[in-house]
Amino acid sequence: MRMPLIAGNWKMNGSLALVEEFGRAFADVSLPVSVEVALMVPFPFLDAAGRALGETSVTVGAQTLSDQPSGAFTGEVSAAMLRECGARLVLVGHSERRTLFGEDDAAVLARVKAALSEELTPVLCVGETLEEREAERTEAVVLGQVEAVFDALDAAERARLVVAYEPVWAIGTGRTASPEQAQAVHAAIRGCLARYDAGLADGMRLLYGGSMKADNAAELLAQPDIDGGLVGGASLKVDDFLAICQSAG
Ligand code: PGA
Repeated sequence: MRMPLIAGNWKMNGSLALVEEFGRAFADVSLPVSVEVALMVPFPFLDAAGRALGETSVTVGAQTLSDQPSGAFTGEVSAAMLRECGARLVLVGHSERRTLFGEDDAAVLARVKAALSEELTPVLCVGETLEEREAERTEAVVLGQVEAVFDALDAAERARLVVAYEPVWAIGTGRTASPEQAQAVHAAIRGCLARYDAGLADGMRLLYGGSMKADNAAELLAQPDIDGGLVGGASLKVDDFLAICQSAG
């Protein structure tokens, strides 16, 4: 049985006041015990989020990390620093990192390895652009991004990842993949992982991301190969995010 994971991705949004609001709301609500919830906040809020959510079951994570352990890399943040500030997960290869900050597959792999070296769970993000989907290259692109990382890891490392499928055309656009479209790609990813190891494929949590909202989460999460969500915009409103978490139970 794969435990669903709902991860909020605040991107470069939010405030310390919002962190406090989430802390109060999650302290007051009982989440389904069968659901894991994580909040990926901007670096400066990690410590406060860890404290505000410390009495809840919500895990705190970051949105990217350096591929280097330390040194003269002005502005960068290492995996060890994230861990020290309470992060337990980290997004790697989000499409905004790939397109806006030039992270290619090699850069994504280096960050996955850096995260693993500090016992952080890398949430590897993959997804195709609209152009690639229309050219019927969705599977080739997505599986290529998956293989670029999984090929370079050993069996124990592979089992420590979470994969998030986020069609780029659905991120922040209000345009969600239909449950059938999402399920088809998730099944393809699981099939790809089965080529490494059947147990790996069976245990791997595959999250869907891209305009997941309170009113479409249930039907997406009902798909057999969708094991949770990576939620951007809707994770900034506590009621919407709570509703999505509830619908995963
Ligand atoms: P969205 O973002 O839910 O606002 O589409 C998802 C993401 O980028 O992780």
